[in-house]
Amino acid sequence: MELSQASKDLYNNEDKKGKFQTVPLLVSGKRNGETGKIWKGINPNKQGKEGMHWVTTLDKLDEYDAQGLVYFPKNGATPRLKYYLEQSPGVPLGEIWDDIKLVQGKESIGYPTQKPIALLERIIKCASNEGELVLDPFMGGGTTIAVADKLNRSWIGIDQSVQAVKVAELRLQQQTDLFTALYANSYTLQLYKYDYDMLRYQNAFEFESWIVGQLGGASNAKQRNDFGSDGKMPDGTPIQVKRSDSIGRNVVDNFFAAVQRYDKKLFEKNIAEKKPVGYIIAFSFGRGAVEEVARLKLSENVAINLMKVEDIVPVAKKPTIAIEINELSRNENGAREIEFIATGKSEASIEFYSWDFDYQADRGFKPSVIMDREGIQKRLLKAGFYSVAVKVVDNDGLESVEVIKLKVNGVVEITS
Ligand SMILES: C[S@@+](CC[C@H](N)C(=O)[O-])C[C@H]1O[C@@H](n2cnc3c(N)ncnc32)[C@H](O)[C@@H]1O
Repeated sequence: MELSQASKDLYNNEDKKGKFQTVPLLVSGKRNGETGKIWKGINPNKQGKEGMHWVTTLDKLDEYDAQGLVYFPKNGATPRLKYYLEQSPGVPLGEIWDDIKLVQGKESIGYPTQKPIALLERIIKCASNEGELVLDPFMGGGTTIAVADKLNRSWIGIDQSVQAVKVAELRLQQQTDLFTALYANSYTLQLYKYDYDMLRYQNAFEFESWIVGQLGGASNAKQRNDFGSDGKMPDGTPIQVKRSDSIGRNVVDNFFAAVQRYDKKLFEKNIAEKKPVGYIIAFSFGRGAVEEVARLKLSENVAINLMKVEDIVPVAKKPTIAIEINELSRNENGAREIEFIATGKSEASIEFYSWDFDYQADRGFKPSVIMDREGIQKRLLKAGFYSVAVKVVDNDGLESVEVIKLKVNGVVEITS
């Protein structure tokens, strides 16, 4: 059960135990035939309140008071009983929810169809338990998955718009704490296009299993098996992954020898059906490898498929980014208004910029501004040191980050 916002608003007093509202301790009529017992010098029947009595016995009033549950208004009005929000069981929610405010202020990230966090919190809590899976196949700005993540649910978010996927990722980064940044590989992001550096330099085993999956195969559960294969196609045909460029002839020869030993029957079946006996995936192949594959085909009627990563997944160049600053003004306290201008360039168009004005490398990029279409921000900075990171996201969902360190003193300097 949940209290409506209107009900919560009634709890407008607060002490160290929490928010409370007050209810009367005096009611009209007689109690066991009596009215007007004096408690703490207060006569319920004074000031024209004849016929009033305390709602409970004087002993119980003392007990409430000892527990700090009696509220004595400063203006000397009659004491009342405190009723804490925490104690309130609430009432079941109805079909119309009108107590949740529209997205506004800091919560707004600039995504056009953004939903309020409070709304998604309520829906997710109603519909799932911790550890269960939440799916938003139209995730937009990512409110659902960001809230699901906070509420310790597993989640899957999907969107046809790369921009939505990137915005959702930035929201997760925004709420990532240091622990998650350092120790947890809490999610992976799948985009339509990938940038070469990301693929080339990410964790080798992760890359291997991912690219084997993209080709339609299944990766070896453990790292490479005895035959030097990293995975297999659905019919068992082996796949080897080389996370490098200009693969040479020796790789082809070694693989050829290995696939014959690996499963002789399958090897012969593939030859009989004119299918490849194996697949080698790499970023590029040298001439020696290409010629060796052609020779095997001609002289031994054996097909080995050389697959470049970019033939399996579209690979694109990531955008570049540059940042400049202008000092606009200085106020009487010595603080300066500084304009930050980020300029991204990409073969795809630039979608937006995100800013982290308190960038700390160890906790990663944690933007305070997520969707800035122009790439221009102004900040009033006092004397001190600042680390500012800006990320540019292009239409393929690829990104680059630039970090500048600023010293604001007699002058504003970029220190690196
Ligand atoms: C109203 S928004 C979603 C808001 C989001 N659920 C939230 O909680 O903030 C709808 C999203 O659906 C996406 N969309 C529309 N058609 C789609 C499709 N066929 N497949 C995947 N996403 C789609 C749009 O790109 C848009 O971002």
